[in-house]
Amino acid sequence: MTVHNIHYTPATRGHAEAITLIFCDVYGADRQQESTVIMKLCCHSTCFGVVSFDADYPVGFILLQQAANTADVIELCVRESVRRQGIGRHLLEQGLHLASKHGVSRVLLEVEATNKSAYKLYRTSGFELVGKRPNYYRQRAKISDALVLKCHLS
Ligand SMILES: CC(C)(COP(=O)(O)OP(=O)(O)OC[C@H]1O[C@@H](n2cnc3c(N)ncnc32)[C@H](O)[C@@H]1OP(=O)(O)O)[C@@H](O)C(=O)NCCC(=O)NCCS
Repeated sequence: MTVHNIHYTPATRGHAEAITLIFCDVYGADRQQESTVIMKLCCHSTCFGVVSFDADYPVGFILLQQAANTADVIELCVRESVRRQGIGRHLLEQGLHLASKHGVSRVLLEVEATNKSAYKLYRTSGFELVGKRPNYYRQRAKISDALVLKCHLS
């Protein structure tokens, strides 16, 4: 689906349901339980993020959590039907911009080692590889490593 009317807005508590729906749509039943956590984090005072809409339809979001001058990317996802049109990169840029405004100087994230798309996006957006967590992701019979990435904000 080609998007025509994309806009981005800082996430508020009022976006919690839309964010959770995107999360469930992207990850399906495998990570259904985590959607409750995502919903709660959307309303947590340490969290902030950005939501993207195609007209009125929510298509992607980034959610970060801050502790002092560091923020972790909790999740970045874009609905499959609208990928490869720059929405993920734009959400990441806006999330980092928002983090900077919140006084964050360092952003960390974990990405599944097999997730080449996301890894490429992060590496071309200022993130460097700083570590690896073996067997970090465990879903059903699937176990995979996490790569830890870091980005310094100026
Ligand atoms: C990762 C994700 C957010 C990217 O969203 P997107 O809107 O498709 O990303 P963009 O169109 O902005 O692409 C940005 C860059 O990512 C990389 N990329 C994205 N999809 C890719 C693919 N299928 N293959 C290779 N590189 C890809 C490219 O470097 C791309 O830049 P380019 O188009 O200039 O080559 C999306 O694929 C997604 O939601 N995946 C499932 C959830 C997920 O894995 N999230 C990351 C958790 S750590």
